[in-house]
Amino acid sequence: MKKIGNRQSTIGNVLFKRAEKLIPGGVNSPVRAFRSVGGNPVYMKKGQGAYVFDTDRKRYIDFCGSWGPLILGHARREVVEAVQKAAADGMSFGTCTPREVEMAELLTDMVPYLEMVRMVTSGTEAVMTAIRLARGFTGRNKILKFDGCYHGHADYLLVAAGSGLLTGGISSSAGVPAGAVNDVFVCAYNDIAAVEKIFSKHGNDIAAVIVEPVAGNMGLVKPELGFLESLRKLTKKSGSLLIFDEVITGFRLGPTTYGKICGITPDLTTLGKIIGGGMPIGALGGKAAIMKKLAPLGPVYQAGTLSGNPVALAAGIETLKILKKENPYPRLAKFAKKIECLVNKKASEKRLGVHCVSEGGMFTIFFTGRKPLRNLEEIRDCDTAKFADFFRSMLKKGIYLSPSQFEVGFISAAHSEKDIGYLAGLLKEYLTKKV
Ligand SMILES: Cc1ncc(COP(=O)(O)O)c(C=O)c1O
Repeated sequence: MKKIGNRQSTIGNVLFKRAEKLIPGGVNSPVRAFRSVGGNPVYMKKGQGAYVFDTDRKRYIDFCGSWGPLILGHARREVVEAVQKAAADGMSFGTCTPREVEMAELLTDMVPYLEMVRMVTSGTEAVMTAIRLARGFTGRNKILKFDGCYHGHADYLLVAAGSGLLTGGISSSAGVPAGAVNDVFVCAYNDIAAVEKIFSKHGNDIAAVIVEPVAGNMGLVKPELGFLESLRKLTKKSGSLLIFDEVITGFRLGPTTYGKICGITPDLTTLGKIIGGGMPIGALGGKAAIMKKLAPLGPVYQAGTLSGNPVALAAGIETLKILKKENPYPRLAKFAKKIECLVNKKASEKRLGVHCVSEGGMFTIFFTGRKPLRNLEEIRDCDTAKFADFFRSMLKKGIYLSPSQFEVGFISAAHSEKDIGYLAGLLKEYLTKKV
């Protein structure tokens, strides 16, 4: 991609030059790079409600929301106060603390099929532990994942992964030994026939199937009717565990998990993002009989110096309490639907190769006429150059989207009718002139 000077953020450009010398690619997570959309990353200095402000004080309406955690928007007063109080009482103890108990009670109350939970520090850690636990519990090694789903950056889950790998055009990461992925089967999302085929041959060796119940790391892809139910049936029949990776979807589509919403109970669930309210966190939970295999009760080891960190828990607990009390979900879904309807109406009027998919407060605008998009293979049709042009045009006008075609946009409780109206106006204008 040609380098495009980002005139909007001059202080940001200077910072990026300094960063590039010392930090690989200038970023601490590849998804923050602008390589697929052109230009330099914008350096954000402040967030307030639905807005972020860059180092040149330019304001953007934020639809990235820190990649999902900020469902209440930036710096929500109650969350900030909870963090301040927790920090003033001590940042970390390495001992048991009351908030761990409060969080465990909150999670198991809001997601009744979570009988026990363990707090960790990131979504990656939650998934790593869930996989180890599934292997330890079943005594089997093989796992099955779906093409385009991202489950964090553990070696064996970087095969055919979505998110940053997809954006960077990398099918799997270097540095992952063949042995680490030998035990991983990969199927196309929504392709239950492919899963059945693998199960008919290897069902007795499969420890777990891991899936994003609504996929959010190849753009937004919904499970087709019967897909998750079939996974549940197949895993149950063969004694494998079903893991719903709800790091994105947990508390994003309702004040609970997507499994609870759709009525399918997985054996294990992984959580992150929203349950930390913007602080580093992760959790896994599920049936007590399985969770009790974790150390110190059982033989499956997991540990963490900062696991269940009290400051992160303070932010998470406050966020979950607000979500439970205020139930912003219908409003978030209404806003996302408004964007979806507008884009799709314009696209059909003008026969444009673009369409929008939404679920709850999440949405993706895909630059392809092909629909529905059921799996990664179909999503590869998207015109990433067109997305890049769209992204830059929105950025210029004060809309901050995730800098990749293969991600989702997040609407927060802090977005107003006016914010959504502003985006809608820009979309109308863009789709009238371009594409
Ligand atoms: C579905 C899913 N699982 C796991 C992860 C990894 O979480 P983290 O980045 O907190 O390690 C992510 C991150 O985006 C994710 O979207």
